[in-house]
Amino acid sequence: MKILVTGGTGYIGSHTCLALIAAGIEPVILDNLSNSKLAVLNRIEAVSGQRPLFYQGDIRDAALLDRIFQEQPIAGVIHFAALKAVGESTQKPFEYFENNIAGTLTLLGAMRRAGCFRFIFSSSATVYGDPKTVPLREDSPRASLSPYGRTKLMIEQMLEDMQQVDPRWSITLLRYFNPIGAHASGQMGEDPQGIPNNLMPYITQVAIGRRDCLNIFGNDYPTKDGTCVRDYIHVMDLAEGHVKAWQVCGEQAGLHIYNLGTGQGVSVLEMVHAFARASGLEINYKIVARRPGDVAECWADPSKAQRELGWKATRTLDDMTRDSWCWQQANPNGYEEEAHV
Ligand code: NAD
Ligand code: WQD
Repeated sequence: MKILVTGGTGYIGSHTCLALIAAGIEPVILDNLSNSKLAVLNRIEAVSGQRPLFYQGDIRDAALLDRIFQEQPIAGVIHFAALKAVGESTQKPFEYFENNIAGTLTLLGAMRRAGCFRFIFSSSATVYGDPKTVPLREDSPRASLSPYGRTKLMIEQMLEDMQQVDPRWSITLLRYFNPIGAHASGQMGEDPQGIPNNLMPYITQVAIGRRDCLNIFGNDYPTKDGTCVRDYIHVMDLAEGHVKAWQVCGEQAGLHIYNLGTGQGVSVLEMVHAFARASGLEINYKIVARRPGDVAECWADPSKAQRELGWKATRTLDDMTRDSWCWQQANPNGYEEEAHV
């Protein structure tokens, strides 16, 4: 069984390829390498013993998509490919709408032409906007706070509309909370280009000496210690959630929506302390002004995924911090260019 994984050399896509291979499903990757490196393929092969088929190209390239569907017996698509930096999206809204929304439409068009109707979409907790209450359930109100968030919300709405009039579609929207961590081997992990936007890679880069000091964006939020609270989830738990979603929902036409989170809220300071525990290192930090657009608290009610998919995050905060640190230590500069077979 082959699944097309767009964005499959990226952070979450590459770990999901491992989980697919472990489940006996063959990933076929399409990625334009705008935010990932070819070396990832070597690592997937080293960890799993299988080198995924790889097409270097763009989800906006309809002719390439048609060729992939002709060349490969694709049973469905897991669609990770997107631009994902919230701050950048406020500066480059056109690029975000063009890449994420037009790209998804081009992909869906190719799927229709190929008669392939099983689709899993990487959505995000960002579609809940600034939550009035937590934990967030799948039926909590949706809103968007940035052009990036709007791309996720609009794509969800597009998919809902399409599914409603064409019951051949099996559409699964997976709303990820805050993925962190790395494969336990230390061979695969998150490799942001430039200054990290997200908390965990920033912490590991301070720990490894690439950055001096973590800026904590505000300690005057109405939370347990004044810093923002998030639902951090181990990337391998998230990866395994995709396999479960494929196995359970792939066969069922309809619209399926799941939060993938742990249900636990962790503050920025708690994360810094957890990382210190895992690494034995104190992280140099200072409190600075709030970051525009941050919400005080956001965590999932993940019970629907447990009930219907039989999926539950099992890895702890200590697993997440240990694996992130192990990856960063083994790869201080992330994935470097490697020879290819
Ligand atoms: P990533 O940037 O590591 O991976 C995305 C991959 O898509 C990259 O390899 C990039 O090169 C590729 N790509 C981008 N545009 C493309 C295009 N037009 N054609 C082909 N390839 C393209 O990001 P990630 O963290 O792995 O995120 C994967 C998905 O999950 C994204 O859709 C993201 O919005 C979503 N998501 C991420 C998070 C998070 O915190 N990481 C949280 C919620 C949702
Ligand atoms: C976590 C907390 C920061 C960096 C983002 C997207 C969201 C989703 C997941 C894609 C916040 C604080 C961070 C730093 C800090 N992505 N922080 N210093 O903002 O919860 O979610 O990624 O869909 O849409 O918005 O994650 O890791 O950026 O921040 O103090 O250098 O860490 O203020 O409270 P966020 P994050």
